[in-house]
Amino acid sequence: MRSESSSLRKRRYGALLARALSSPVALLGAVSAACGSPSPAASEGGGSGAPVEVETAESQPSDERAPDVVAEQELVGLRRAARAAGKLIGAAVEAPALRDDATYGEVLAREFDYVTPEDAAKWGALSPAAGAYAWDDLDSIVDFAERQSQKIKGHTLIWHQQLPAWVNEAMTAEQLRAALESHIELTLTRYRGRVRAWDVVNEAVDVSTESGYTDSIFWRKLGPSYIEDAFRRARAVDPDVLLFYNEVGIERMGPKSDFTYTLMRELLERGVPIDGIGLQSHVSTHRYPAESDLRANIRRFAELGLRVNISEADVRTLLMPGDQASRWQAQRVAFQQIVGACVVEPGCEGVTLWGFSDAYTWINDDGSADDPLIFDRTYAPKPAYDGVLVGLSGVLPELGENLVANGDFALDEESWSAPGAVLAVADAIDRNGRAACVSERTGGEGDALAQTGLVDRLSMGGPFSFSAWVRLRGAPSDTVNATLLLQEAAPQPRALSLATVGATDAGWVQLAGYFGLGFEGAVTAITLELHGPAAGVELCVADVRVQALTAP
Ligand code: G3I
Repeated sequence: MRSESSSLRKRRYGALLARALSSPVALLGAVSAACGSPSPAASEGGGSGAPVEVETAESQPSDERAPDVVAEQELVGLRRAARAAGKLIGAAVEAPALRDDATYGEVLAREFDYVTPEDAAKWGALSPAAGAYAWDDLDSIVDFAERQSQKIKGHTLIWHQQLPAWVNEAMTAEQLRAALESHIELTLTRYRGRVRAWDVVNEAVDVSTESGYTDSIFWRKLGPSYIEDAFRRARAVDPDVLLFYNEVGIERMGPKSDFTYTLMRELLERGVPIDGIGLQSHVSTHRYPAESDLRANIRRFAELGLRVNISEADVRTLLMPGDQASRWQAQRVAFQQIVGACVVEPGCEGVTLWGFSDAYTWINDDGSADDPLIFDRTYAPKPAYDGVLVGLSGVLPELGENLVANGDFALDEESWSAPGAVLAVADAIDRNGRAACVSERTGGEGDALAQTGLVDRLSMGGPFSFSAWVRLRGAPSDTVNATLLLQEAAPQPRALSLATVGATDAGWVQLAGYFGLGFEGAVTAITLELHGPAAGVELCVADVRVQALTAP
């Protein structure tokens, strides 16, 4: 790994210092982060007490374009709780709803202090015809926010979706570059001094491609340098506005967040002006990032000197069966988890929900109706509203007792099996306690380390936290999965993926995820399986936990 550049180091401590002064909670967290001591949630041991070298920050872009002119005592609900926490609480806003639905505007003004145009600021919406711009919808949102003393985040200057039809493959690279630069210049100039931050580039990473970049018109015609060029052009147009990169699916640790982290680090080391990153957080109650994953990601991006936003949070509930009351309670826990993680991490400056009433969610537009937000279709607050409110107080969901039998293998193989391989329990290498190792694996069905008989322990449905620590022997790296098999009326059990991680033979890594269970009729058996590595690779497992998540 290349040595850290001085500009990156200055950004890191400058950003930590700026955030440390933002609130007492942040001050404690920032000092610990600056000392390199990770919080207990993300590691097994304490951090090293590295000396804190707090340097004066380079001039940072202006952070408070619209200072909080509304006194805290005049605030209510989420907006008051966020101010007390020193965090931003935002919502994506649809211009037609703001125009046609008076209640929409009332709730938006009452509950949120940070506004993101959901679609109005996208290139296709602003410039449907070449050379012509239609600013009305975006102006209506910016004007509304300014009247309500709300801050504004523009979304998004460059995205391969919702492009104007005239931006197409017939363009030469030079024509596309010129069009991009003009779009950035026109848009940022119009709102200079009124918009606090802009998503400059959205969703440029796709680790399913060979390059790791999204196969978009921008990547095809301009190469990955379009990302750097866009940020430099934006900074040249507006020296003060905060410039963000925004990405989907990087809340949990894994290949996509790793690639994005490396990309951000390399761009920052080259002095590319990026001030923040958005972790979109479109999740579902049936499976979402564990607290340890989300906080570890917030922390590592913050340690690059980036401001972290949870930028598009919504929580689907209909991807798992279950009655509305249980689904909405699980949703409440998920929102509390996501918001709480942002509040307790000094590197996270706020949470934006991707809408706030189920009457206006993008998810219904793409054909798979759901109820992912915190108000129902009549603007009645759902349990999820309380989840956000409690999360803003910094209170995270609590973990119950371990529902897995002999999860620490203190009773050797009791309650565990690996029918198609050889199972042995011994003192764990390089960690306290015992570990179960599965060897002579053939890569077939029976290879998993399994525990059956969980139906009585998990029949309440969740939400649950899953965690285990895994290590390999006989291969430098391979994927390890945790899966629940639910035996219901259907002949074949239903497989629910709980978590996936890249494991190595160099040390223990955590396999973690939160999940909810819905049952399609009577469930007669539930089995937990840890599996994945190729045949011949030995899989060692320690400290397996499944714990109920409760919202205090
Ligand atoms: O503006 C047209 C309107 O004229 C037409 O009558 C109507 C019916 O076809 O369509 C309208 O355009 C729709 C647009 O939203 C504005 O409402 C598009 O069809 C629709 O596809 C588009 O969906 C947006 C989606 O991005 C596009 O991929 C969603 O509202 C928006 O919430 C969603 O947001 C994205 C973020 O920007 C980036 N992260 C992922 C997130 C979810 O996809």
